[in-house]
Amino acid sequence: MELLEIRQLTLHDESAFLAGLKEWEGEDTSWHTFTWKEGMPFGEHVVRLENDALGIGVKAGPVPHTMLYGFLDGQIVGRCSIRQELNERLLTNGGNIGYAVTPRFRKRGFGSQLFKTGLSYISELGRKKVLLTCAPSNTASVAMIEGNGGVMENEVFVEEDGEILRRYWIDLKSSSYH
Ligand SMILES: CC(C)(COP(=O)(O)OP(=O)(O)OC[C@H]1O[C@@H](n2cnc3c(N)ncnc32)[C@H](O)[C@@H]1OP(=O)(O)O)[C@@H](O)C(=O)NCCC(=O)NCCS
Repeated sequence: MELLEIRQLTLHDESAFLAGLKEWEGEDTSWHTFTWKEGMPFGEHVVRLENDALGIGVKAGPVPHTMLYGFLDGQIVGRCSIRQELNERLLTNGGNIGYAVTPRFRKRGFGSQLFKTGLSYISELGRKKVLLTCAPSNTASVAMIEGNGGVMENEVFVEEDGEILRRYWIDLKSSSYH
């Protein structure tokens, strides 16, 4: 199995980050980043990500958030977005962990590596369970969540997106992520 290096961005990752962004051209760029916007100096981007992870400057509403990127031979193949806490919105739409793999790198186990790293991260924060939300039609994500012990609580209609989402919990106490 090819192992990813999974970590936060540093100042040295600008070209890998921009090349990774290009892979998502024509698609929703939030699959690559929530933070970087056209013209933002990369150094500012890295500092913002570091602060988000530490909860520095996080106002009421958003929660401390860590973005980890998966690197293979210096290229970014995907990311895992870790919401360290749950607010009202995340409780129905988003959950603790979001993940995406660049289309050409899919089905090689990279999504699972990112996902499991997210579970370990939440476990290390002392949390006992993790919430995942996912559209029932997203077969890849459903496979990943259910394959990692996700137990569905319910399906909810999310008005802002006009779609149904499944809500799954993974119990970290009974798993190998702690
Ligand atoms: C979901 C996603 C991250 C999976 O990434 P990936 O690197 O292809 O995943 P993996 O190769 O690790 O496969 C994980 C599991 O999903 C299964 N799987 C992957 N793609 C699949 C597909 N299209 N249909 C059915 N199952 C699929 C794999 O067989 C594997 O199951 P297994 O562990 O039982 O073998 C990727 O498809 C993606 O980025 N999708 C768009 C973003 C997204 O939807 N994110 C989740 C939002 S809830």
